[in-house]
Amino acid sequence: MTKSIEKALKELMKHAEKAALKSYSPYSGFRVGAALQLANGKIVTGTNVENVSYGLTICAERAALVRAVSEFGPKIRIAAVAVANRSGLPSPPCGACRQMLSEFTSPDAPVVFPAAEGVRTMKFSDMLPAGFELKLK
Ligand code: THU
Repeated sequence: MTKSIEKALKELMKHAEKAALKSYSPYSGFRVGAALQLANGKIVTGTNVENVSYGLTICAERAALVRAVSEFGPKIRIAAVAVANRSGLPSPPCGACRQMLSEFTSPDAPVVFPAAEGVRTMKFSDMLPAGFELKLK
């Protein structure tokens, strides 16, 4: 990874950490933040919003994605993703978030997240190697 990409990802991670401060997570106490680097140069963040029903909870990554499309429209492309939490615990994007992100994220986009061994960077296509696709004719 070139120095400038590394620096940009560190910066993106700072946005994710800041977003986690806004988390609404009274049930799990797990405060997550996500930051999406869009191909148009913008950064869009999101945080997890829990619900007493538990199942209706929205993850930080999907909150950011929905916000990005709402703000910049359906043609957005995601060039990089950062996920952070305020607990110092591992938090890779969950399967549902990977599937949702796949619609807008380039296969070679880096995804940075806290892992057991420290901050880890993976290529998006390695995170979701066989995501659902529907090739409509
Ligand atoms: N969570 C996220 O925000 N992103 C994920 O990818 C997985 C889990 C949130 C949902 C819930 O509020 C809390 O973390 C505990 O699962």
